[in-house]
Amino acid sequence: MPEIVPGQSSDAIHRAVSLINAGALIGFPTETVYGLAADADNPAAVAHIFAAKGRPADHPLIVHLGADDLLTHYAREIPDEAWILAEAFWPGPLTMILKKALTVPDVVTGGQDTVGIRLPGHPVALALLRALAESRRSAGQQGGGLAAPSANRFGRISPTTAQHVADELGDAVALILDGGDCRVGIESTIVDLSRDLPVILRPGAITAEQLSLVLGRTVQAHAKKDERAPRVSGSLASHYAPRTPLKVVDAGMIDRQIARGDVAAIVRDTDDLPPRVRQYASTRILANDPMDYAHDFYRVLRELDGGGYRQILVQALPQHSEWLAIQDRLSRAAHRDLPDNT
Ligand code: TXA
Ligand code: MG
Repeated sequence: MPEIVPGQSSDAIHRAVSLINAGALIGFPTETVYGLAADADNPAAVAHIFAAKGRPADHPLIVHLGADDLLTHYAREIPDEAWILAEAFWPGPLTMILKKALTVPDVVTGGQDTVGIRLPGHPVALALLRALAESRRSAGQQGGGLAAPSANRFGRISPTTAQHVADELGDAVALILDGGDCRVGIESTIVDLSRDLPVILRPGAITAEQLSLVLGRTVQAHAKKDERAPRVSGSLASHYAPRTPLKVVDAGMIDRQIARGDVAAIVRDTDDLPPRVRQYASTRILANDPMDYAHDFYRVLRELDGGGYRQILVQALPQHSEWLAIQDRLSRAAHRDLPDNT
């Protein structure tokens, strides 16, 4: 099993930088989910990410930066709106799709001419990224970005603790920096700024309303079906799926189903929750608040998935835009038309 070390220690950060500079993969915390990182300027190291995850080569990775002055090393023709969003939301759970700089290896972008970039809002991630950039500068080189997808096997639940990363990837990672529980708990919002109109490709904690407000024009909450749209692995229907079949139902249905046993339930803490559902040993009660719910959702799903249940029943979510990002993850988790690990 890989070594898990406290990410706050400067010794751990230096070990991680040395490993990355040697082409190894490491696990690191962000405020959204844990990432599986390689040197973004080292194509051979980035190729190991795809092997470790079992991810198809044409699914692009996000490049993580410790400072926005590195943006010009990885992107070109950067629109003013990108700088405005960087100023407003970085460090934070926002990924921007921009035209890629010619030096970005094709293996990072899956051969596309755009690149996803974000500056994560977690102290350990920032310490790591800044130390890496500093090691490049002192060697007279440019760069210092980390190509990193979520640190799960392809198609599985994203990890929100260091132990989840070890459980998912084992010895494929050289070292895991422990930064505790991820604050947000679901993946970053992805906004595509490489086209005429900004469009959200993946909803997250930062909403279309927030982006629209800062930009002073409407940001589309959903990419329309568009043949020019790049492939996004998170847009496969079966993504984020547990192994146990998952069904979205109302609380009344959960009440009837638990009488038969053999199922687990994820519900929201509301006054009208049936008492039997509340008391059932395999019910997990999450907060009736989208931020708090997101914080716990993947962890609870992962725990119940390992419990040997016939089915996981999840109480339907409110039809409100605040719940959009979780709704998105939930419907993917419930979708089983596509086989696992595709
Ligand atoms: O919160 C997050 O974004 C986490 C943490 C680790 O930063 N990362 C993450 O990475 O979720 P990943 O690889 O699991 O998901 C990134 C998504 C994928 O669906 C990928 O297809 C999409 O971003 N993506 C990356 N580059 C892209 C590009 N150039 N154009 C369109 N989509 C892109
Ligand atoms: Mg992922």
